[in-house]
Amino acid sequence: MDFGLSGKHALVTGASSGLGLAIATALLAEGASVTLAARSQDKLQAAIDGLPDGLKPLADTVLADFNDPQVAETLATAARRRTGAVDIVVANTGGPPPGQPSGIKPEVMSAQYGAMVDPVLRLTLDLLPEMRARKWGRILAVTSSGVIQPIPHLPMSNALRASVTAFMKTLAGEVARDGVTVNVIAPGRIGTARTTQLDRNAAERSGQPVEEVAAASAASIPAGRYGTPEEFGAVAAFLASTQASYVTGSIIRVDGGAIRSI
Ligand SMILES: NC(=O)c1ccc[n+]([C@@H]2O[C@H](COP(=O)([O-])OP(=O)(O)OC[C@H]3O[C@@H](n4cnc5c(N)ncnc54)[C@H](OP(=O)(O)O)[C@@H]3O)[C@@H](O)[C@H]2O)c1
Repeated sequence: MDFGLSGKHALVTGASSGLGLAIATALLAEGASVTLAARSQDKLQAAIDGLPDGLKPLADTVLADFNDPQVAETLATAARRRTGAVDIVVANTGGPPPGQPSGIKPEVMSAQYGAMVDPVLRLTLDLLPEMRARKWGRILAVTSSGVIQPIPHLPMSNALRASVTAFMKTLAGEVARDGVTVNVIAPGRIGTARTTQLDRNAAERSGQPVEEVAAASAASIPAGRYGTPEEFGAVAAFLASTQASYVTGSIIRVDGGAIRSI
């Protein structure tokens, strides 16, 4: 199936590794040009170097830190350089530290809001007018299964990503008639550096070997394993496609059945 993305330009944040890189790669493979954003030049360069040769000319990069108050403007400006406008934005941030809800420090919560919610809303609002004017746009936010089934030890993730999710749902209703779809993709446990780190944290808490923690976690998922970044990227590429024009205001789970509710 041709997803109709040739000639479209995408901005993918958190794109130097894991889910963001997999999404960027899937979009590039569908013929879109992509601006990949992250903080580390070395990681971005390694991401570009790892792409198939035929896709490299379609990719460019921008250095941006979600803790920078100007990050949304930096991202939007860089992403417009290639084609003058952005057709697809995938908002994917770093994750917050784990901990007990009762142990959250309010100043850390505020800082995480500033890195995970505020810039996502600002970036979306910056890019939205050009999508509406051209009657085509795709806005995707990567959140977490925790917005449906809160995850113990990730209270900030649960709370802040729910905030992004609710905003995106509200926005979807406003812009649906303008050809702009707005969706949230909720990963369960996809094998990336982030899940490896969370497994290490859980191992430290429980005193179990990390391999046992990871095996128990995988066994708790109906699919019996963590997902691959490629499986996640493929879903994002479909949501960005022309064929997904009637999918909006949705939370799409990519979780191997991990979320227990309907
Ligand atoms: N993997 C999962 O199963 C899963 C499940 C639920 C939720 N999530 C969430 O999905 C997001 C992506 O996860 P992942 O698994 O792909 O993690 P990852 O492999 O650690 O990738 C995170 C990406 O975000 C970038 N990044 C981190 N902090 C940043 C910042 N302050 N400013 C700009 N870029 C930043 C990183 O690049 P630099 O270090 O170069 O900046 C990297 O490209 C995270 O928020 C994670 O918590 C993941």
